[in-house]
Amino acid sequence: MAAAAVVFDLYGTILTIESMAVHVDAAGVGDAPAFVADWRRKQLEYAFLSSLAQRYRDFDELTALALEHTCAQRAVALDVQQRASLVEAWRTMPAYGDVAPALRVLAGHGVPLAVLTNGTPISADAALEHAGVRALLADVLSVEAVRAYKPDPRVYALAIERFGCAPHEIVFVSSNGWDAWGAARFGFRVAWCNRVRNAPETLLPAPEATLAGLHELERFVTGPP
Ligand code: LAC
Repeated sequence: MAAAAVVFDLYGTILTIESMAVHVDAAGVGDAPAFVADWRRKQLEYAFLSSLAQRYRDFDELTALALEHTCAQRAVALDVQQRASLVEAWRTMPAYGDVAPALRVLAGHGVPLAVLTNGTPISADAALEHAGVRALLADVLSVEAVRAYKPDPRVYALAIERFGCAPHEIVFVSSNGWDAWGAARFGFRVAWCNRVRNAPETLLPAPEATLAGLHELERFVTGPP
């Protein structure tokens, strides 16, 4: 076992953002999957912007602001309570079906597992508890410690500080192509979990491995570097 730790992105990698479409649909919004995709894009855009402008606002706030914008852009009328409920639902997303089995297999190898997320500590912990996988993780690391968002290198550095190792001793797993890029740029060994067959990012460096799902992760972690 060469890896000092396996570190996972949270939203979209462990937790299914697509599941938010059920709540959006229940609020009476049409074309819920497209609405959720727009909401997520705007949430990430606000994270990148607030990081670049060095004006940190936490991810729960940005999620709410992105929802407000998405509603305005799509001429969707949701009241304050409905919007608050949708933001709250980010704490109850289910995990992908391949997550718990993969975490258990890796834990069986004795490798520490952690999450490194843009999310707030409270929301990330609550969501992982709700999804039933928090107990499998040694730690949940949040950008809140450095008040900047991925792919700022100070965020990825939180993992090497936590595990007292060099970047190449961390296996980092993300489904977000831009996050996989940032982590590879930082020096982690990166597995891009590409469940939905997205086109690879053209910005280099590329991730070391591309996985069809987390069932392929054990081989990457335990195989030769
Ligand atoms: C996270 C977002 C980027 O969990 O998905 O960090």
